[in-house]
Amino acid sequence: MFVACTILATIALSQTADEAKPAAPAAPLIGLKDAFAGKFLVGTAGDVPRGYSEAELANVKANYNIITPENCMKPQPTHPSEGTYNFTTPDAMVKWCEDNGIKIWGHTLAWHAQTANWFFQGTNGEPVTRELAMERLSNHIHTVVGRYKGRVYGWDVVNEAINDRGGGETENLRNSNWVKAIGPDYLTLAFKWAHEADPNALLYYNDYNIDQDTNYDRATPQYSGKHTSSMLLLKRLIKDGAPINGVGIQGHWHLYNNIDDVEKAISDYESLGLKISISELDVTATGENSGAFPTRGGGEPITPEAFQKQAEVYAKLFDVFNRHAKSMSRVTFWGISDRRSWRSGQRPLVFDGQLQPKPALKAILDIAAGKSVPTKP
Ligand code: G3I
Repeated sequence: MFVACTILATIALSQTADEAKPAAPAAPLIGLKDAFAGKFLVGTAGDVPRGYSEAELANVKANYNIITPENCMKPQPTHPSEGTYNFTTPDAMVKWCEDNGIKIWGHTLAWHAQTANWFFQGTNGEPVTRELAMERLSNHIHTVVGRYKGRVYGWDVVNEAINDRGGGETENLRNSNWVKAIGPDYLTLAFKWAHEADPNALLYYNDYNIDQDTNYDRATPQYSGKHTSSMLLLKRLIKDGAPINGVGIQGHWHLYNNIDDVEKAISDYESLGLKISISELDVTATGENSGAFPTRGGGEPITPEAFQKQAEVYAKLFDVFNRHAKSMSRVTFWGISDRRSWRSGQRPLVFDGQLQPKPALKAILDIAAGKSVPTKP
């Protein structure tokens, strides 16, 4: 009786001890960059390392092999007044990336936003002449690209040159200060100057919503013709001899984007002989346009179903990228975690605010491992 009780007690104790043991830690997830090795680079955006925690930097090193500076290489911060350059943050970033074996994607040289007004004013405040504007843009590009020659892998040479609502009959160029000052050939010139400054850097045109002709805002879908306009623009750049290697589809998407359109756009750009990047990827778990809520934080609560749907959308997108891996050079997420995102209220990334993997991360890794896109029962 005593023996039986002892045995039972021992079993009970060992069961309790087993149950009390913490569950074996889940196998660490493979890093995104390793999951897609040999297919395309996987990147993130951030002005690292200053202001980033050790945990954030460890996450970056584990997951990404290329980084785009989110803000610090833009014209406003690098060149706030004529002849005054500020390279403190970009220099630190380039060094940190090199120390950690991570490539750098330069962003951006000619843009309508985050560019100081002095570029467009003559000496007495009058509108700048074409010649002076060309000289200034050329100097800017030669100085910035030249400084990082051989160290920055490629550049978004021109950013967001196409306007939002056109109709697709024309290039529908945004009437930016660069168009006003120089004319539509500012794009070809910018590519030529960037190539002169670093002949080995890859040079891309970068824009949002160029994967679609209809905006997928379910409340007010609108024909924009933006993809068709992008084809007209890219054909012109190629015809005019711009040294362009590829096109960056920014990829600021949401749960209801048309993924067939994304694939068609990739195929169309392939037909022009261009490489393709997804350059600023995020998929909002709420909201239905390519912009952000007015405030960075404090979005409405998001349901688990929405995060599941977000995972499905990411899986479908990476399935497309996988199938086009021969022409895809890079897929870059626009930020490292939901907390850091410009659309943080819409929780668009694959790591949450505490750097924990979201369902979207697992869904993407499943695609990398050869599983098929999940379909609803
Ligand atoms: O650094 C200043 C800080 O000193 C100041 O106190 C604070 C007050 O608002 O502003 C800070 O600057 C902000 C900067 O981000 C750095 O956080 C700017 O206001 C803010 O406008 C800027 O937003 C950036 C935005 O580009 C500017 O257009 C976002 O971080 C950046 O994610 C976003 O990135 C763009 C791509 O370059 C191009 N494609 C679209 C994408 C999303 O808008």
